Amino acid sequence: MQIIPIFTDDPGWHGTKLTSALAQHNIQTVFVSLKDCTIDLSGTQAKIHIPGMSQQPKKAFVRGVPGGTLQQVIARLDILHMMQMMGVQVVNSGRAIERTVDKAMTSFLLHQAGIPTPATWVLESRQQAHHIIVNELQQGNAIVIKPLFGSQGNGVRKIEKGDAMPLPMDSYVDGLFYLQRYINSGEGEWHDYRVFVVAHKAIAAMTRHGMQWVNNVALGARCEPCYQPEVIALAEAASKALDIDYCGVDIIQAKSGQYYVLEVNGIPAWKGLQGVSEVNVAQRLADLLVD
Ligand SMILES: Nc1ncnc2c1ncn2[C@@H]1O[C@H](COP(=O)(O)OP(=O)(O)O)[C@@H](O)[C@H]1O
Ligand SMILES: [Mg+2]
Repeated sequence: MQIIPIFTDDPGWHGTKLTSALAQHNIQTVFVSLKDCTIDLSGTQAKIHIPGMSQQPKKAFVRGVPGGTLQQVIARLDILHMMQMMGVQVVNSGRAIERTVDKAMTSFLLHQAGIPTPATWVLESRQQAHHIIVNELQQGNAIVIKPLFGSQGNGVRKIEKGDAMPLPMDSYVDGLFYLQRYINSGEGEWHDYRVFVVAHKAIAAMTRHGMQWVNNVALGARCEPCYQPEVIALAEAASKALDIDYCGVDIIQAKSGQYYVLEVNGIPAWKGLQGVSEVNVAQRLADLLVD
């Protein structure tokens, strides 16, 4: 029986679903933290030691790259890159994960591909950041500040007319400003869309109704199925622009009707989506890995 590692520090519900989906393909899984792997260049052949694996796997699935120091994170991504260079099929690839975990690069690639995404600025200078924010507020826009490596709505802030400017010591700034024009989806009826895309085809989509303007499921958004063709088409275009095997695409619609891609997730959760979707998401991911 083939054994494949699932890189994760928290197998949970997603680990269980993937394991049973892969079992149907006669594949066994082991949960491994990238923290516990070793790059071993002592012999003639390079080796990546993976706890619980006696030989190099044919495939590997990435469900989490734990944060850490810059050196630790680079070494964890090195493992994904090296495994792929040694012939392992890594899903998602280290390259795709790097591009999606980094919101600046995601925004750039969407913009380059001509996919509508909100106006965005990334900079270190606080003075310049203030200048951009003041300018936007004067034009009647609000500004969203996000951590470059954020997820699940953590640390996302909104600056509106009359709000204080962010200070360098504000924990959510951390020396870098990722600023984005706020897209108003409807005061009091905030919502956005999450589309799950596998091999550039949308397999499931939902509308997320937030308790406030941040519509993440982790922050309590209510989910319902979504079938809007514009949303589906935009998500598939975003997946192609990021050149990623599978992803979760966040899309928002302004009251004017215009849709924008907010971000592309390379390690998307799907528990909320599975609750309102007919397709077995884990099964589709297992199929992707096997094909
Ligand atoms: N420019 C924006 N305009 C309006 N709402 C936004 C904007 N950016 C983010 N949001 C809201 O915040 C949520 C989280 O932002 P997102 O970019 O998806 O980061 P995260 O990685 O934390 O999910 C989005 O799902 C959306 O509800
Ligand atoms: Mg998001």
